[in-house]
Amino acid sequence: MAGRVAALIPAAGTGARLGEPKPKAFVEVGGTTLLERSVAAAYESGVVDEIIVAVPADLVASARDLVPSARVVAGGAERSDSVRAALAVTDAQLVLVHDAARALTPPSLFVDVVAALRDGALAVVPGLPVADTLKQVDAAGWVVATPDRNPLRAVQTPQGFAADVLRGAHAESGDATDDAGLVEAAGVSVQVVTGDAMAFKVTTAFDLTLARMLA
Ligand code: C5P
Repeated sequence: MAGRVAALIPAAGTGARLGEPKPKAFVEVGGTTLLERSVAAAYESGVVDEIIVAVPADLVASARDLVPSARVVAGGAERSDSVRAALAVTDAQLVLVHDAARALTPPSLFVDVVAALRDGALAVVPGLPVADTLKQVDAAGWVVATPDRNPLRAVQTPQGFAADVLRGAHAESGDATDDAGLVEAAGVSVQVVTGDAMAFKVTTAFDLTLARMLA
Protein backbone atom coordinates (compact mmCIF):
# COMPACT_ATOMS: atom_id res chain seq x y z
CA MET A 1 0.00 0.00 0.00
CA ALA A 2 1.22 3.48 -0.87
CA GLY A 3 0.91 6.51 1.41
CA ARG A 4 2.44 8.29 4.36
CA VAL A 5 3.57 6.39 7.47
CA ALA A 6 2.92 7.52 11.05
CA ALA A 7 4.59 5.88 14.03
CA LEU A 8 2.32 5.92 17.10
CA ILE A 9 4.28 5.41 20.31
CA PRO A 10 2.22 4.56 23.41
CA ALA A 11 4.32 5.83 26.33
CA ALA A 12 1.64 6.57 28.92
CA GLY A 13 2.07 3.51 31.16
CA THR A 14 2.99 3.91 34.81
CA GLY A 15 5.48 1.04 34.68
CA ALA A 16 4.23 -0.39 37.98
CA ARG A 17 6.09 -3.70 37.41
CA LEU A 18 9.38 -1.84 36.92
CA GLY A 19 9.48 -0.36 40.43
CA GLU A 20 11.05 2.96 39.35
CA PRO A 21 9.79 6.31 40.72
CA LYS A 22 9.12 7.72 37.21
CA PRO A 23 6.70 6.45 34.54
CA LYS A 24 8.55 3.85 32.48
CA ALA A 25 9.06 5.86 29.26
CA PHE A 26 10.84 8.57 31.29
CA VAL A 27 13.35 6.18 32.87
CA GLU A 28 16.88 6.56 31.45
CA VAL A 29 19.07 3.94 29.83
CA GLY A 30 22.65 5.11 29.19
CA GLY A 31 21.64 8.73 29.90
CA THR A 32 18.70 8.75 27.45
CA THR A 33 15.02 8.07 28.24
CA LEU A 34 13.22 5.07 26.76
CA LEU A 35 10.92 7.58 25.02
CA GLU A 36 13.81 9.41 23.29
CA ARG A 37 15.38 6.12 22.18
CA SER A 38 12.14 4.82 20.68
CA VAL A 39 11.48 8.07 18.81
CA ALA A 40 15.09 8.12 17.52
CA ALA A 41 14.85 4.55 16.20
CA ALA A 42 11.64 5.39 14.31
CA TYR A 43 13.25 8.47 12.72
CA GLU A 44 16.52 6.72 11.92
CA SER A 45 14.64 4.02 10.01
CA GLY A 46 13.96 6.56 7.26
CA VAL A 47 10.54 4.98 6.57
CA VAL A 48 8.45 7.07 8.99
CA ASP A 49 6.97 10.45 7.99
CA GLU A 50 5.41 11.45 11.31
CA ILE A 51 5.74 10.39 14.97
CA ILE A 52 3.02 10.75 17.60
CA VAL A 53 3.70 9.85 21.22
CA ALA A 54 1.06 9.36 23.92
CA VAL A 55 2.30 10.16 27.43
CA PRO A 56 0.71 10.64 30.88
CA ALA A 57 -1.36 13.87 30.83
CA ASP A 58 0.86 15.60 33.41
CA LEU A 59 4.00 14.89 31.35
CA VAL A 60 2.86 16.29 27.98
CA ALA A 61 5.00 19.44 28.38
CA SER A 62 8.12 17.48 29.47
CA ALA A 63 7.68 15.10 26.54
CA ARG A 64 7.52 18.05 24.10
CA ASP A 65 10.94 19.16 25.41
CA LEU A 66 12.41 15.65 25.23
CA VAL A 67 11.19 14.73 21.74
CA PRO A 68 10.63 17.99 19.83
CA SER A 69 10.42 16.14 16.51
CA ALA A 70 7.31 14.23 17.62
CA ARG A 71 3.71 15.30 18.20
CA VAL A 72 2.68 14.69 21.80
CA VAL A 73 -0.82 13.75 23.01
CA ALA A 74 -2.14 12.72 26.42
CA GLY A 75 -2.60 8.95 26.72
CA GLY A 76 -5.35 7.09 28.56
CA ALA A 77 -5.95 4.57 31.32
CA GLU A 78 -5.29 1.50 29.14
CA ARG A 79 -2.70 1.03 26.42
CA SER A 80 -5.47 0.82 23.81
CA ASP A 81 -6.80 4.22 24.97
CA SER A 82 -3.33 5.68 24.40
CA VAL A 83 -3.15 4.14 20.91
CA ARG A 84 -6.61 5.53 20.08
CA ALA A 85 -5.56 9.02 21.27
CA ALA A 86 -2.55 8.96 18.93
CA LEU A 87 -4.54 7.45 16.05
CA ALA A 88 -7.09 10.27 16.35
CA VAL A 89 -4.58 12.97 15.32
CA THR A 90 -3.06 11.42 12.18
CA ASP A 91 -4.33 11.16 8.62
CA ALA A 92 -1.47 8.87 7.48
CA GLN A 93 -2.56 5.85 5.39
CA LEU A 94 -0.16 3.48 7.18
CA VAL A 95 0.49 3.36 10.91
CA LEU A 96 3.07 1.61 13.06
CA VAL A 97 2.28 1.11 16.74
CA HIS A 98 5.47 0.81 18.79
CA ASP A 99 5.87 0.43 22.56
CA ALA A 100 8.15 3.10 24.03
CA ALA A 101 9.26 0.32 26.38
CA ARG A 102 10.95 -1.52 23.46
CA ALA A 103 13.61 1.17 23.48
CA LEU A 104 16.49 -0.80 21.92
CA THR A 105 14.54 -1.86 18.82
CA PRO A 106 16.80 -1.47 15.76
CA PRO A 107 15.61 0.88 12.97
CA SER A 108 15.83 -2.09 10.55
CA LEU A 109 12.75 -3.65 12.17
CA PHE A 110 10.68 -0.56 11.20
CA VAL A 111 12.02 -0.96 7.65
CA ASP A 112 10.99 -4.65 7.50
CA VAL A 113 7.46 -4.01 8.80
CA VAL A 114 6.86 -1.12 6.39
CA ALA A 115 8.21 -3.22 3.49
CA ALA A 116 5.61 -5.93 4.22
CA LEU A 117 2.84 -3.27 4.30
CA ARG A 118 4.08 -1.82 1.00
CA ASP A 119 3.92 -5.37 -0.43
CA GLY A 120 0.22 -5.53 0.36
CA ALA A 121 -0.26 -6.88 3.91
CA LEU A 122 -2.93 -5.01 5.90
CA ALA A 123 -1.44 -6.01 9.27
CA VAL A 124 2.17 -7.00 10.09
CA VAL A 125 3.82 -8.02 13.36
CA PRO A 126 7.45 -8.92 14.13
CA GLY A 127 7.72 -12.26 15.91
CA LEU A 128 10.37 -14.70 17.12
CA PRO A 129 10.22 -18.46 17.73
CA VAL A 130 9.68 -19.36 21.38
CA ALA A 131 12.78 -20.77 23.11
CA ASP A 132 11.12 -22.12 26.27
CA THR A 133 8.54 -24.88 26.38
CA LEU A 134 5.19 -23.31 27.27
CA LYS A 135 2.67 -24.82 29.72
CA GLN A 136 -0.98 -23.98 30.01
CA VAL A 137 -1.95 -24.02 33.70
CA ASP A 138 -5.17 -23.83 35.72
CA ALA A 139 -5.94 -21.26 38.43
CA ALA A 140 -4.24 -23.42 41.08
CA GLY A 141 -1.02 -23.70 39.08
CA TRP A 142 -1.41 -27.25 37.77
CA VAL A 143 -0.46 -28.01 34.19
CA VAL A 144 -3.43 -28.51 31.88
CA ALA A 145 -1.60 -28.85 28.55
CA THR A 146 1.74 -28.45 26.78
CA PRO A 147 1.12 -26.76 23.41
CA ASP A 148 3.49 -27.55 20.53
CA ARG A 149 5.84 -24.56 20.54
CA ASN A 150 6.90 -24.92 16.89
CA PRO A 151 4.07 -22.87 15.39
CA LEU A 152 4.13 -20.29 18.24
CA ARG A 153 5.75 -16.84 17.95
CA ALA A 154 6.47 -14.26 20.64
CA VAL A 155 5.37 -11.01 19.02
CA GLN A 156 6.90 -7.58 19.39
CA THR A 157 6.44 -4.07 18.05
CA PRO A 158 6.50 -2.09 15.76
CA GLN A 159 3.22 -3.58 14.51
CA GLY A 160 2.12 -2.13 11.17
CA PHE A 161 -1.39 -1.60 9.80
CA ALA A 162 -3.38 0.03 7.07
CA ALA A 163 -4.70 2.94 9.16
CA ASP A 164 -8.36 2.26 8.28
CA VAL A 165 -8.01 -1.36 9.40
CA LEU A 166 -6.60 -0.34 12.79
CA ARG A 167 -9.24 2.39 13.21
CA GLY A 168 -12.01 -0.12 12.49
CA ALA A 169 -10.58 -2.68 14.91
CA HIS A 170 -10.23 -0.11 17.70
CA ALA A 171 -13.78 1.13 17.13
CA GLU A 172 -15.20 -2.42 17.35
CA SER A 173 -13.47 -3.97 20.32
CA GLY A 174 -12.21 -2.87 23.69
CA ASP A 175 -8.85 -3.80 25.09
CA ALA A 176 -6.17 -6.27 23.94
CA THR A 177 -2.52 -6.76 24.90
CA ASP A 178 -1.52 -5.88 21.36
CA ASP A 179 -3.08 -4.15 18.38
CA ALA A 180 -2.80 -7.17 16.11
CA GLY A 181 -5.11 -8.99 18.55
CA LEU A 182 -7.86 -6.43 17.88
CA VAL A 183 -7.30 -6.59 14.12
CA GLU A 184 -7.38 -10.41 14.18
CA ALA A 185 -10.66 -10.30 16.13
CA ALA A 186 -12.03 -8.11 13.33
CA GLY A 187 -11.21 -10.91 10.85
CA VAL A 188 -8.14 -9.40 9.15
CA SER A 189 -5.14 -11.65 8.30
CA VAL A 190 -1.97 -10.68 10.14
CA GLN A 191 1.46 -11.39 8.62
CA VAL A 192 4.43 -12.21 10.87
CA VAL A 193 7.91 -11.00 9.83
CA THR A 194 11.11 -11.98 11.63
CA GLY A 195 11.51 -10.03 14.86
CA ASP A 196 14.69 -8.97 16.65
CA ALA A 197 15.92 -9.94 20.13
CA MET A 198 16.84 -6.28 20.75
CA ALA A 199 13.15 -5.36 20.47
CA PHE A 200 12.46 -6.90 23.91
CA LYS A 201 10.14 -4.93 26.17
CA VAL A 202 11.51 -3.34 29.32
CA THR A 203 8.97 -4.57 31.88
CA THR A 204 10.83 -5.69 35.02
CA ALA A 205 13.91 -4.47 36.92
CA PHE A 206 15.83 -7.32 35.28
CA ASP A 207 14.90 -6.02 31.80
CA LEU A 208 16.07 -2.54 32.79
CA THR A 209 19.43 -3.90 33.97
CA LEU A 210 19.74 -5.83 30.70
CA ALA A 211 18.87 -2.72 28.64
CA ARG A 212 21.46 -0.65 30.54
CA MET A 213 24.14 -3.29 29.93
CA LEU A 214 23.28 -3.53 26.21
CA ALA A 215 23.16 0.27 25.78
O1 C5P B 1 2.56 -2.04 30.40
P1 C5P B 1 3.22 -2.47 29.15
O2 C5P B 1 4.70 -2.60 29.27
O3 C5P B 1 2.59 -3.64 28.46
O4 C5P B 1 2.99 -1.23 28.13
C1 C5P B 1 3.43 -1.27 26.80
C2 C5P B 1 3.52 0.15 26.27
O5 C5P B 1 2.23 0.76 26.32
C3 C5P B 1 4.47 1.00 27.10
O6 C5P B 1 5.31 1.76 26.23
C4 C5P B 1 3.53 1.88 27.91
O7 C5P B 1 4.04 3.16 28.22
C5 C5P B 1 2.33 2.01 26.98
N1 C5P B 1 1.08 2.28 27.72
C6 C5P B 1 0.33 3.44 27.41
N2 C5P B 1 -0.81 3.73 28.10
C7 C5P B 1 -1.23 2.93 29.10
C8 C5P B 1 -0.51 1.75 29.43
C9 C5P B 1 0.64 1.44 28.71
O8 C5P B 1 0.71 4.19 26.50
N3 C5P B 1 -2.33 3.28 29.76
